[in-house]
Amino acid sequence: MSAELIPSILDLRHRLAEVRRAGRVIGFVPTMGALHAGHGSLIEMARQQTDCVVVSIFVNPTQFNQQKDYDLYPRPLAEDLEFCSARGVDIVFAPAVEEMYPRTQLVFVDVLRVTEHLCGKFRPGHFRGVTTVVLKLLNIVQPDRAYFGEKDAQQLAAIGRMVADLDLPVQIVAVPTVREADGLALSSRNRRLSPAERRIAPIVHRALQVAEEQIAAGATDPQQVKTKALATFHPFPQIRVEYLEIVDPLEMQPVERLDGPVRVAAAVWLGATRLIDNLLCRPATGQIERFT
Ligand code: PAJ
Repeated sequence: MSAELIPSILDLRHRLAEVRRAGRVIGFVPTMGALHAGHGSLIEMARQQTDCVVVSIFVNPTQFNQQKDYDLYPRPLAEDLEFCSARGVDIVFAPAVEEMYPRTQLVFVDVLRVTEHLCGKFRPGHFRGVTTVVLKLLNIVQPDRAYFGEKDAQQLAAIGRMVADLDLPVQIVAVPTVREADGLALSSRNRRLSPAERRIAPIVHRALQVAEEQIAAGATDPQQVKTKALATFHPFPQIRVEYLEIVDPLEMQPVERLDGPVRVAAAVWLGATRLIDNLLCRPATGQIERFT
């Protein structure tokens, strides 16, 4: 069955009112299109857990820092529709910019603290754009469950906190990162990598694994772990590291000691392409506690 394409908010609301009246549970997967197996995994989980899967495809202008990045963002709508149909998506909501922003937007959602470090530091206004459009989309779709990838861990944390602090009636589901066989996290931006850059790109995941191995082996000093992880990039002058940080998984604040679960997150530039990735790491268990 092919997915039903709906570009209008009003039409979508009418269609979903019927779905809700029929007692069906609605699952929502917000995306910016250029769909790949990472998005596919969110859709798959939504299919398993809900009765009607809605995917939105909207390249949201307010979350881009650079006009060029927005202009260059791929928009293969026909392929995306096929992708959704093949995976049993019921409805694709693909609004125009004027549909989502018919007038100057004067209301924004800012999730403080969670968006302070990592990408928030280097992409001013980005998360404000993300949380605002996600809140708009959640209000339009009113799903029972909404699915987000751990690939964008800070985004996931910000949305989780928005939903909690604003008492939104939706359950947020986190989906593990889907990777290529060589470890590179799938991303719509990967298609911009040259063949030579593509060969180097898995080093980002490798650097995070170096951190993970040390944390699992009982390292307690985040600075030492960071230094060793960063050394992974030294043989690759093509890579410019924007950040590599070790933060607590809920509020995304840099930790001073490794004594609980942490996210190790990195952003690097490879030529003109920015890559981000992260791993959830747990300190060694069964260590002998030292009280002296
Ligand atoms: P987009 O980059 O298209 O991603 C849509 C969803 O797919 C996000 O929840 C993202 O974390 C998830 N995703 C992307 N790559 C993934 C991978 N390799 N494995 C698992 N999940 C992956 O994120 C956005 O769009 C936008 O910011 C959006 C939330 C739609 C708001 O505009």
